[in-house]
Amino acid sequence: MALSTGSNKIKTAIFISGTGSNLKSLIKFSKLKKSPIIIKMIISNNSKAKGLQYSKIYKIKKKVFDFKNVLSEKKIINELKKNNIDLICLAGFMKILSKSFIKNFKGKILNIHPSLLPKYKGLNTHEKAIKNKDKYSGCTVHFVNSRLDSGKIISQKKVRISKFDTPSILAKKVLIQEHKLYPAAILKILSL
Ligand code: GRF
Repeated sequence: MALSTGSNKIKTAIFISGTGSNLKSLIKFSKLKKSPIIIKMIISNNSKAKGLQYSKIYKIKKKVFDFKNVLSEKKIINELKKNNIDLICLAGFMKILSKSFIKNFKGKILNIHPSLLPKYKGLNTHEKAIKNKDKYSGCTVHFVNSRLDSGKIISQKKVRISKFDTPSILAKKVLIQEHKLYPAAILKILSL
């Protein structure tokens, strides 16, 4: 990956749309000495996203954009460049970024997805895994390219599905693993 750690930490923006539990775990990770990242911005398409509360708690700059068109994306790109953002982590971010946005940050955008990709791209992953009687679900951290949930896989963690699991129970189990997997994946790609 074309990122250099050097003595300075990688300036990172986290994109969220909802609860922000992955955001919280990444903030905690960023505060560890071993962490190669510093979180400079929280970006959301949703002004009501619960996760935006972490901006206040941890004193991190937040910005809300509608992500509706090229113009709006241009504003976001400018904001990210102005803040020297060198890594973008999508964490429960529900908008699809345009090809040109991705090109601007080539190889520097990561996403976490609640399935063992390439299985179950898109939404309702836990429902699909249970319906198909899969033995395992899990989560994946991958680079973002122009195709949905299809970029190069960095790390995955399996979670066993029990016969008692409902989609929401499974989602909770997987989420616990997501909170460990995202920091581990960042360490993996940024370790020297
Ligand atoms: C996570 O399961 C993530 O993988 C998915 O949406 C959920 C977001 O959770 N894309 P949170 O907002 O980080 O709590």
